[in-house]
Amino acid sequence: MKTQILGSSSLAVTRIAYGCMPLGGAWDAPSIEDTTRQKAVTAIRTALDAGINFFDHADIYSRGKSEEVFSDIWHEVPSLRQRILLQSKCGIRFENDVTGGAPFRYDFSYEHIIEAVNGSLRRLKTDYLDVLLLHRPDPLVEPEEVARAFDALHQAGKVLWFGVSNETAAQLELLRHFIRQPIVTNQVAFNIIHTHMLDEGILFNQYNPRLTRNAGTIEYCRLHNITLQAWGALAWGQLTGRSNGKPSEAVIHTSSLVYEMAQQKGVSPEAIVVAWILRHPAKVQAIIGTTQPKRITAACQADTIELSREEWYKLFVSGRGENLP
Ligand SMILES: NC(=O)c1ccc[n+]([C@@H]2O[C@H](COP(=O)([O-])OP(=O)(O)OC[C@H]3O[C@@H](n4cnc5c(N)ncnc54)[C@H](OP(=O)(O)O)[C@@H]3O)[C@@H](O)[C@H]2O)c1
Repeated sequence: MKTQILGSSSLAVTRIAYGCMPLGGAWDAPSIEDTTRQKAVTAIRTALDAGINFFDHADIYSRGKSEEVFSDIWHEVPSLRQRILLQSKCGIRFENDVTGGAPFRYDFSYEHIIEAVNGSLRRLKTDYLDVLLLHRPDPLVEPEEVARAFDALHQAGKVLWFGVSNETAAQLELLRHFIRQPIVTNQVAFNIIHTHMLDEGILFNQYNPRLTRNAGTIEYCRLHNITLQAWGALAWGQLTGRSNGKPSEAVIHTSSLVYEMAQQKGVSPEAIVVAWILRHPAKVQAIIGTTQPKRITAACQADTIELSREEWYKLFVSGRGENLP
């Protein structure tokens, strides 16, 4: 699979990355079932066979069980750790995790960042993370404290590179002002039916309820060499056969376009969904979160095709369910 450099790091990452969120099974299960372990190892092996070298985690996924089950792979594939790149995230905390009555919250304090990374390293059975992301912006962030935590983790060799997730350009600017290490990535929701980042750019001077007033995130990341990573890269299966609820007209129409293009190009529908993300000139890295081996392989076919400008726009406009201004 083709690789690209992640932001201003020295990491050559595959354009498609594997999202490990579902590997640990049910979030409320007290422990990891044997079938979950087998399924996780099969999914990781399939991703490796498809050429993926980058695995995305978070301390909270399945309440730590996703990181824990991932470490089973070290026994299965000797010397794998040196050949793959591990990313994890911190900064989200569950309710009642320290004292009764503590709410679900975000926490970018020095103590929590350090403690969360130590937990991830322990569960993943590794000495270092290649990349650490701050998971969701904490309104109480003290950027100097984050800088201190990043310094400590970097100096201890526990984290090599740093990034963020779900952050606006302004939030990135604030952090970058204080942090000594480069921010190499910003992971955001992005796919044909979740185009808010693009809408900001084309609707900036219009009245339109789609506007989220965060204009410039893509442009900011491109200017500062911060690779965008797309979560939800399979559009949560909504364009490729997942039946949940009553899909909108836009989803129904876009799905039929996806299948049509897939047939024309001789690839899977999942490949079209992912190729739409890869076609963006920001060189967005697509994070796919399916546990099904056949869908992992199908999605990775995206690496073999490139959508034309016309194909990309056709899907964009259809997914928005609204013509361009
Ligand atoms: N930074 C953040 O805030 C954030 C948030 C969410 C996720 N993430 C990361 O991004 C990764 C991917 O995100 P995601 O899981 O939200 O999105 P995704 O990759 O678009 O969707 C994956 C989900 O959709 C299901 N699915 C896909 N195609 C399907 C189909 N044809 N039929 C039925 N089900 C289908 C998968 O189930 P199967 O396993 O059955 O295929 C899985 O539950 C995660 O694993 C995680 O690493 C980050």
